[in-house]
Amino acid sequence: MWGIIATWRMAAEGVGKAADILKNGGDAGDAIETAVREVEDFPYYKSVGYGGLPNEEMEVELDAAYMDGDTLDIGAVAAIRDFANPVSIARRLSKEKVNNLLVGEGAEKFAHKEGFERKNMLTDRAKIHYRNRVKELTAQEIKPYSGHDTVGMVCLDTKGKMTTATSTSGLFMKKKGRVGDSPIAGSGFYVDSKIGGASATGLGEDVMKGCVSYEIVRLMRDGLHPQEACEKAVAMFDQELKERRGQAGDMSLIAMNNKGEWGVATNIEGFSFAVATENQEPIVYLTRHVDGKCVHEPASQEWLDDYMRTRMAPLEEK
Ligand code: GLY
Repeated sequence: MWGIIATWRMAAEGVGKAADILKNGGDAGDAIETAVREVEDFPYYKSVGYGGLPNEEMEVELDAAYMDGDTLDIGAVAAIRDFANPVSIARRLSKEKVNNLLVGEGAEKFAHKEGFERKNMLTDRAKIHYRNRVKELTAQEIKPYSGHDTVGMVCLDTKGKMTTATSTSGLFMKKKGRVGDSPIAGSGFYVDSKIGGASATGLGEDVMKGCVSYEIVRLMRDGLHPQEACEKAVAMFDQELKERRGQAGDMSLIAMNNKGEWGVATNIEGFSFAVATENQEPIVYLTRHVDGKCVHEPASQEWLDDYMRTRMAPLEEK
């Protein structure tokens, strides 16, 4: 069995490429890196890689992680600037004995020495988004912290090896140096090939309070199906946060076990994700809540067309 699952519609093309690698007996590390790079390279996704939205100082600072479920190797970068593919740097760091999570200038120095591609990740389109948001903030009291669609993936290859990876530009207008859940093991991602893996998208500050990805893997170890594990972890933690703090940030989790069974849970409306397995051609699903449960339905062609049209529509300065 092989499979890959990923947060958001934006991962669909990458999931397709990973599926081609996996069905030919390829490695779960190569497949997931290929899939995440595809999202990082596409300029119209404004929350990951090239075209990602900048921090409040108009700099694109990126977070990414990679984990190998066989060895439990972890590599991650946080607040890295000017490199094309943070996920590849994270994967490279996972092979080090120590110094596995590097931030800011240290991450950039490492990437430079290792010969990773440098790139100015701030696009003209992202600059327009930035300037528009600054004007909106001046004109009205709106919260700056929105737009945190991290790509997170879990992958299983035919040899039973599992991997997980994340990549994000984090919160739009975040403080310089702010780091979310995505490069933090247990919060933004976790995988163990003996069990399965999980990954998160949402408000990092809240996801980190519950180590939600690890919690899902723990529940799968206790025998829960990935769908039950995701629903239980997300519902319980959403409730905890609301009880203790009055509100819970956005939280959407994907998971796959080492049999290729998968699950998804979210506390928002309109969450989309992409999945492919030996038994399932790459497909995009949308999740809705029915009687307190998460129900996944294939996205319609109309929804898919509209998604791309909206992402690529000309952007005007306000
Ligand atoms: N989940 C991404 C972030 O909060 O940065």
